Amino acid sequence: MASLRRENPVAVFDSGVGGISVLRTLRKILPQENYIYFGDSANAPYGEKNVDEVRIIASEAARRLIEYGAKAIVIACNTATSAAAVFLRQAYPDVPIIGMEPAVKPASTVCESPTVLVMATPLTLREKKFRSLIDRCGGKAEFIDVPCHGLVEMVERGITSGVEMEALLHSILDGYLFERKVDAAVLGCTHYIHARKSICSVLGKEVRVFDGALGTACEVKRRLREADLLNNTKDNALGSVEIYNSAKDHDKMLDLSYRLLGLEE
Ligand code: DGL
Repeated sequence: MASLRRENPVAVFDSGVGGISVLRTLRKILPQENYIYFGDSANAPYGEKNVDEVRIIASEAARRLIEYGAKAIVIACNTATSAAAVFLRQAYPDVPIIGMEPAVKPASTVCESPTVLVMATPLTLREKKFRSLIDRCGGKAEFIDVPCHGLVEMVERGITSGVEMEALLHSILDGYLFERKVDAAVLGCTHYIHARKSICSVLGKEVRVFDGALGTACEVKRRLREADLLNNTKDNALGSVEIYNSAKDHDKMLDLSYRLLGLEE
């Protein structure tokens, strides 16, 4: 492996455009870094696959990003983090590898004993990593798993708001909302962050909504600083962003990625 240098890119990857939500936050927290983003839309959704499949796919993505010279890897996907983070850290012990964690802890403190919906992919909700997070950080909260079938696919189609999105969200959430008073919701999948406004409107004003993007970006900063890899050599100049996508309709996915990032290609 080539030696890691401060100007080398921070690699961010996800099953598709979801991790763009994390890249957006990373660019606010660490604007001077150079970024390379890989969206594996050809294999989305990861959340409907089994652990071994996701581990193999994520390993291949990490191998390529490291070959490309990534100085750190951000797994901007809760599902791939659950399935593959431990495995990747063993395979590449010299590269900081930072994963996502559903924002269960802040959600558990919104009131004395809150009811919290955890919206995530079926694979994330099944995994040991998530169950032990709930045991560790749950406190007096009651957590309710909400597998959101179809939501990743809709965001991959570029739909993050509007009638179609709200209809899907009502079909997923209404049953939970009618049954009980909900205090908080956790967006445990990076794709859902793009639909945050619609999710908030369907959940209603009373429900506080949390995601893990800022926590992850702050952890990336901490890990780069610890490894003396922060790109602080260029007088605070804005770093570059390169985006790749594995989809057949590659150009369409790149357009969508830059749009979600808030940049023109
Ligand atoms: N963005 C991924 C996550 O955070 C979506 C997984 C999928 O492709 O199902 O879990």
